[in-house]
Amino acid sequence: MADIAGIALKQILGSLEQHGYRHIEHVPDSFDYISALSAIGPLMTQYQGDLIREVQPNPAVPDDANSAASTSAATPHTEFYEFPDIPPRYVALWCIRPALPDGGATTLADGYRFLAEFTTDERSRLFDEIRDWRSRPTLAAEGIAPTSCRTPALVRHHGRLVMRFSTRDLHRDGELTSAYIDRGQEFFNAHHIAVRLEQRSLLIWDNWRMIHARTAFDDRRRHLRRILIGEAA
Ligand SMILES: [Fe+2]
Repeated sequence: MADIAGIALKQILGSLEQHGYRHIEHVPDSFDYISALSAIGPLMTQYQGDLIREVQPNPAVPDDANSAASTSAATPHTEFYEFPDIPPRYVALWCIRPALPDGGATTLADGYRFLAEFTTDERSRLFDEIRDWRSRPTLAAEGIAPTSCRTPALVRHHGRLVMRFSTRDLHRDGELTSAYIDRGQEFFNAHHIAVRLEQRSLLIWDNWRMIHARTAFDDRRRHLRRILIGEAA
């Protein structure tokens, strides 16, 4: 069976199943991210059709914007909530250059654990009731067309629970949606873990389950790369 940076794929999939994420350090310089990560599932294209998204401060995006391309903290979300199709199963992020001396940590919290706080009735409404999601307005500064979709926060897909979450871009259409956003933020504040990616380290997480965010940083040379992975056949 394939391995990723010397760790058996089976072991990585086991960590993803058990904890929702896996952090791998000391990835060799020669590591071929595209072919290695393809072993987990089919790679999905990013906003503009690329397989790899460069995550670094973009001069077109103000530093105080809530954006992957700014230097401020990013608010809790799942990836690709604004698209009607099933979002990427996994997100992989690796570090070309960390922010010095600190900051820019990726933060993660278990969304499935958060959902356990809701009553059975509330959870079934999160599956049944359609919500409005819009893309980050700051993506437009990167030349990415604004988009939106109408879909429930929770859907079942091939027997798995797929969760969408955003504190900023989910329309507050009532009490339950506001509770979902506000309690999600509180849960995230209380239960997140922070992973500061050092050079040549790789983080993979289950985007159907984990909510993620980022802490602020000052060093504009910070540079990560991202790949989105679909569900395995
Ligand atoms: Fe993100």
